[in-house]
Amino acid sequence: MRSLVRESHIGPDQLIWPVFVREGISEPVEIPSMPGQYQLDLDSLRRSASRAAEAGLGGIDLFGVPLSRDAYGSTALAEDGILNRGIEAVRAEVGDALIVIADTCLDEFTDHGHCGVLDEFGRVDNDETLKLYTRMALAQAHAGAHMVSPSGMMDGQVAAIRDGLDAAGFTDVAILAYSAKYASAFYGPFREAVDSTLRGDRRTYQQDPANRREGVREALLDVEEGADIVMVKPALSSLDVISAVAQVSPVPVAAYQVSGEYAMVEAAAATGWITREAIIDETLTAIRRAGADLILSYWALEWAERTR
Ligand code: PBG
Repeated sequence: MRSLVRESHIGPDQLIWPVFVREGISEPVEIPSMPGQYQLDLDSLRRSASRAAEAGLGGIDLFGVPLSRDAYGSTALAEDGILNRGIEAVRAEVGDALIVIADTCLDEFTDHGHCGVLDEFGRVDNDETLKLYTRMALAQAHAGAHMVSPSGMMDGQVAAIRDGLDAAGFTDVAILAYSAKYASAFYGPFREAVDSTLRGDRRTYQQDPANRREGVREALLDVEEGADIVMVKPALSSLDVISAVAQVSPVPVAAYQVSGEYAMVEAAAATGWITREAIIDETLTAIRRAGADLILSYWALEWAERTR
């Protein structure tokens, strides 16, 4: 009877698995603050992608961890940069069986760790960064990405990328927009996962967690600019924002269950203080109930394989 009247359902095809591909390693390296998640070399990335396709996941979202970094994040644009090689490898492996998404942001590639380039005063230069994002998205489309995902919270990033892709003939490469992305301490473990060099914070471009209306505004602006999917992030601390965005968005809404959400549950489960699988299911369900159509989660593969 309960399942007959259940309001929120989750399917593997609504889940996207974020993965890290790292240059210069020959076997997976576990991420200490994210037990069970790994930095992958190209071979293990291919195997992981084919497992994800097998499990019926909706997509895989690729983040790169390069060997060298500079002020402009040059290796993000290079055809032989680790992220672009990862995209190519995954597409060759899975074809169209899985939506291949690329993170379109410079923070993993800059030596200062910011999501954009800096001006002469050390401030993130929004408009100069847009030019690089556009080139980065083009490189990712060339490598075979079905979807690019600007996560740097620069104003105008969706429009700039859409224009660049269209002008190059990539009219069917979609944009997953990080729209309401809050300056959050929940990203801590991710920064370890990508060996981030960031000092300071991202409060000049990411949002104040105190603001809900602003989250809705950011999402609607991205829709205007051509976003195919809008995202709210983090997930569990932003359920009200997910709900508000879902009520007005004409396009699908995604939520990102981020590294800190993962780490908290894994740490508490490791001590035996909570029941791991039940908590995972409950959090995913809550995010769906709030209104997310899609969920990015580090548990995506595990969840799909467990519930198959
Ligand atoms: C930036 C980016 C971040 C995350 C996804 N993309 C980190 C940040 O903004 O500092 C965080 C994801 C997570 O915590 O799981 N490219």
